[in-house]
Amino acid sequence: ISSVSTSSFLSDFQSKCATPLPVLKQVADAMESDLRSGISTVAGASLPMLPSYVDSLPSGNETGIFYALDLGGTNFRVLRVLLRGKEKRVVDTEYDVVTIPQELMLGTTEELFDFIASRLALFVEKEGDRFQIPKGNIKREIGFTFSFPVRQTSIDSGILIKWTKGFKVSGTAGRDVVACLNEAMERRKLDMCVSALVNDTVSTIAGAHYWDNDVMIAVILGTGTNACYIEDISANPKLRHLNSTSEKTIINTEWGAFSSNLPLTVFDKDMDIASINPGEQIFEKTISGMYLGEIVRRVLLCMAETTELFGDSIPEKLTTPFSLKTPDLWTMQQDNSDELTVVESILEESLGVYNPSLHSKKVVVEVCNSIVTRGGRLAGAGIVGILQKLNEDSKGAVLKKRIVVAMDGGLYVKHPHYRIHIEDAVSELLGPEISNNVVIEHSKDGSGIGAALLAASNSKYN
Ligand code: BG6
Ligand code: GLC
Repeated sequence: ISSVSTSSFLSDFQSKCATPLPVLKQVADAMESDLRSGISTVAGASLPMLPSYVDSLPSGNETGIFYALDLGGTNFRVLRVLLRGKEKRVVDTEYDVVTIPQELMLGTTEELFDFIASRLALFVEKEGDRFQIPKGNIKREIGFTFSFPVRQTSIDSGILIKWTKGFKVSGTAGRDVVACLNEAMERRKLDMCVSALVNDTVSTIAGAHYWDNDVMIAVILGTGTNACYIEDISANPKLRHLNSTSEKTIINTEWGAFSSNLPLTVFDKDMDIASINPGEQIFEKTISGMYLGEIVRRVLLCMAETTELFGDSIPEKLTTPFSLKTPDLWTMQQDNSDELTVVESILEESLGVYNPSLHSKKVVVEVCNSIVTRGGRLAGAGIVGILQKLNEDSKGAVLKKRIVVAMDGGLYVKHPHYRIHIEDAVSELLGPEISNNVVIEHSKDGSGIGAALLAASNSKYN
């Protein structure tokens, strides 16, 4: 029996997930403070702040053919990148894309890495004689973008701390993922080697920096979310053991693990409890592509149960986790038709809701708006948290000049509303004048080109 009106449910929900300036400010400040405690503490901090072992970004002089593997987004990709050096600043890429079958995301380490090696073998086989590698003891070199938290032990090795996003492969956590790949390549007699193991944020910053020296931060907003930035080695005891000759290094924050001061609702909490990693990756679960559609579905289900939103019956699809996808939200948000016919067809196809009233469809769009707005604005607050840290560390120098935040990931690229909310939050927090210096821009395919560049700059044959 419905006891609450749709409008009062909606306004209560909207107030709980609202992100007015004071909330954004608390999030940005908490992010800054968690970044600081993570970088100064070796264990037990809320943010992992993982050293990447990338101490110098590619110069642009790199030349040759390098390969890149990209595992961890919606798709798995294998790329071959022809680097032509600084003069030409042109790169040619060819690639294969495959979706990782769901069963491999929940299977065993051997199955997953065998799959990766098999796709790599197919890719190399297809090139025939077109790309001869030099004779001698030289192997084809790979930049391996592995988009999960890894405790690196060098630029070409690292131990998986835990899986995130939809992956829960048995037996990998605690193992060196490069060794896992090497074993799979050996089983296939594939004579290639990993010269750089990198997070997707790190390959994105490398790819973006290739074109623009002002890039200091990279953010991924896709299935999951994360950020990395350029940090001073000498200012941080945790980094001194790196024995680097450089003064700077890239830190993979793993900000998806952030959880302080977030405006969470009961729907976020329930989704977390039901997830394959309860209690973990709370920021990621609030702002990234894997989860936004699911949060909206949970809100709509509860509204259907407790208000008159969709009449008396509850369609089965509406009760099915992850039946509403994040791209559906954007499609519904941009429906300009008088009768919201696009919203209606998505409700029908994805959630099994038939003949909703116009009022109900408007309510659905409102719920999508609230969740997308909250996600984008919190992502913006996260970026400001990093900017505040860099600015304070540099005694105010960083925000006095142009600074570029390189962005990538399906959510950022395909959802224009989300992008606008990020920018709004950044300019509200920093004020119009300072935020003019902050350029937030899409870095196209940083992870492919960036990983190949890092393989080249860390080549085993230089
Ligand atoms: C891509 C990057 O554009 O975005 C990848 O090249 C990254 O490295 C990916 O992992 C994340 O996006 P999604 O939406 O596929 O998770
Ligand atoms: C998850 C991973 C992180 C990655 C991000 C974006 O948060 O833990 O390593 O960078 O997703 O793909």
